[in-house]
Amino acid sequence: MTIAFMWAEAQDHLIGAKGQLPWHLPADLQHFKQVTVDQIVVMGRKTYAGMGKPLPQRTNIVLSQQTDYPVAPGVILLNNVAAVLAYAAAHPQQETIIIGGAQIFNLFKDQVTRLYVTKIAARFSGDTYMPELDWPAFTRVAFQPGVVDAKNKYPYSFATYQRTNE
Ligand SMILES: NC(=O)c1ccc[n+]([C@@H]2O[C@H](COP(=O)([O-])OP(=O)(O)OC[C@H]3O[C@@H](n4cnc5c(N)ncnc54)[C@H](OP(=O)(O)O)[C@@H]3O)[C@@H](O)[C@H]2O)c1
Repeated sequence: MTIAFMWAEAQDHLIGAKGQLPWHLPADLQHFKQVTVDQIVVMGRKTYAGMGKPLPQRTNIVLSQQTDYPVAPGVILLNNVAAVLAYAAAHPQQETIIIGGAQIFNLFKDQVTRLYVTKIAARFSGDTYMPELDWPAFTRVAFQPGVVDAKNKYPYSFATYQRTNE
């Protein structure tokens, strides 16, 4: 079973603004799709509400303390961390990828073994920040600079980290 995090952050670890992403970076959305398709994605209720609909071609899990929170058909609503870990353990052939937001990253900090991070070298205004992680426990295993063009205006890079001894 692998528990991974996938997120994009700008300067000062900013990840969100008013329930949405602070930037428009289609190349990162493509990369996100490539990594997450056919896998299990786990998101907080606020991130799910901000997206408005589930991510296609993936198992969508929404975490909420509300047992009756309405989700779209096919979306799995779970109410605690233990239930997510049990689901991940029961589906070891798929990667369980925590996709945010900040509250949900915070809940899985001790379990995460792989990090997919997009770093955007630009400053935006916003209100939600990536929590501090145990970075010394991780080793960078992949790195790719992003292509800046008319549609992707900020310098950015994709990196993957693996927890050492995992
Ligand atoms: N840049 C990125 O990569 C990225 C990725 C994801 C999200 N974001 C951004 O981050 C922002 C949202 O993040 P957020 O931290 O405000 O919210 P969030 O983590 O998406 O969702 C928070 C909700 O999760 C539920 N929750 C929290 N702890 C729980 C627990 N222990 N058990 C069960 N449910 C629990 C609660 O739902 P209930 O209130 O229903 O109980 C809580 O309100 C948005 O702006 C979004 O666009 C950015």
